[in-house]
This record gives sequence, C-alpha cells and structure tokens, in this order.
Amino acid sequence: MEAIECILTRKSVRKFRPDAVPRKTLTEVLAAATRSPSYRNSQPWSVDVVSGRKKDELSDMLVGLVEKDVPIMPDIPEPTSWPEAVRERMRTSAERRNRELGVDATKVDSAKMGKLANFRFYGAPHVMFIYQDSVLSLWSLFDAGCFAQTLMLAANAYGLGTVPQGYLTDYSPDVKRFLGVPQSKRLVLGMSIGYPDASDKAAVFRSDRIPVDEVVRWVE
Ligand SMILES: Cc1cc2nc3c(=O)[nH]c(=O)nc-3n(C[C@H](O)[C@H](O)[C@H](O)COP(=O)(O)O)c2cc1C
Repeated sequence: MEAIECILTRKSVRKFRPDAVPRKTLTEVLAAATRSPSYRNSQPWSVDVVSGRKKDELSDMLVGLVEKDVPIMPDIPEPTSWPEAVRERMRTSAERRNRELGVDATKVDSAKMGKLANFRFYGAPHVMFIYQDSVLSLWSLFDAGCFAQTLMLAANAYGLGTVPQGYLTDYSPDVKRFLGVPQSKRLVLGMSIGYPDASDKAAVFRSDRIPVDEVVRWVE
C-alpha cells in the first residue's frame, strides 16, 4: 500500500471479526513499529499481545471492575481540563459519531456502555498493551506515541484494523498484576487489533478533521 493512502485510510476500528491474526503477521507489524523514531534511539517501549483465553479472562476482569464502579487508577492521570476550542472540537466530533452510530448519549448508562465495549476490546481477537519504565520523562511518552502510530499504520498496510484505547489504562495496576508486569512500568496505551468487521458501521465510520489551514502558519 502506498504511504499516503495508508495514512489517509487508517482509522479507529470499533468492531472486529473474531478470527485470529497469524502470529507471523502480528510480528511483522510489530517489527515495523520498532522502526519508529525515539529520543536518542532510546526505544522506550515494550508490548504485550494478549489473545485467546487469557484475553477473555482479562476482559472479564476489566468488565467486572467497570460494573462495580471501581474508581479508575490510570498510570497517566486523566486530563482535568481542556482549552475551550479543543473541548468544542471533541464535543462536535462525539456528537457526529453518536448520531451516525445510533448512540443515544442522553441515556443514563450510555457512557458505561461505551466503556464496556472498550473493555470487550470491540470483539477483537487480540489486544496489545504498550508500556515503558515509569521513571522516563515526557519525551519518552512522545516516543511511545510515535511507536503506536507506526504500529497502527503498519497494521493498516496488512489489512488489519486497530483502535488506540486510553480506557484500557483505567485500571493500570490490575492489568499489570494480571499480566505479570512489574508495577514500576507505566501502562501508556491499550490497543485492540484484528480484522475489521466491515459489515458494522463502527468499523467503517470515518472521523472529520479541521482544515489544514487552521493548524498551519506559513512563515517566510
Ligand atoms: C491517546 C488516545 C487514546 C484514545 N482512547 C480511546 C479509547 O479509549 N476508546 C476509543 O474507542 N477510542 C480511543 N481513541 C481513538 C480516538 O477517539 C480517535 O483516534 C479519534 O476519534 C479520531 O478518529 P480516527 O482514529 O478514526 O481517525 C484514542 C486515541 C488516542 C490517540
């Protein structure tokens, strides 16, 4: 797939087919992701790919925590405020997505349903967790972001869908305990991965972007 086409067609997929992706394909995607740039080539990332029974057990555990309204404990604290323009952008974006996917956001439990869908990994056969040592600085978080994006683009080139999921870090200590990861690691991001279920709107929905003129200044 041509690079620009790969960038332009990547999107968050929120409905997957259950079929497993061959280990060889996932390995090639991950190997491509390791080519991401990083601060002084520090490569501050490690990944768990969770599949099969273990993935189902992890999902059940996380769903249980949400159902019991257990307070969240993400390694990276949730944002507490947003600049007005950004908040507005998020609001209109969510509104359009809800409208097109038929989600009634006024329903009392709609936020919880959304969370539960995240913790069921949108039906994906695999879920990935990206970690780094928690003593690392903000620069390393930036590196992990580059890694995640390269991973998503490589996956797209192989016909796979992905969705980056901050929600999957809500119960960071529990995820690390479950997967035998030292608590000294920072859980940066979760990501479901698999073949998109193209028959479902949640797999084909395409989000908007603000025009490039609004984000770029040409200075000469
Ligand atoms: C750091 C980060 C965290 C995200 N967390 C979630 C999440 O928890 N659940 C989810 O469904 N999407 C999540 N997303 C996906 C965004 O909602 C999505 O990227 C955005 O709406 C733009 O849509 P697109 O990815 O289809 O272009 C996250 C994206 C990023 C970069």
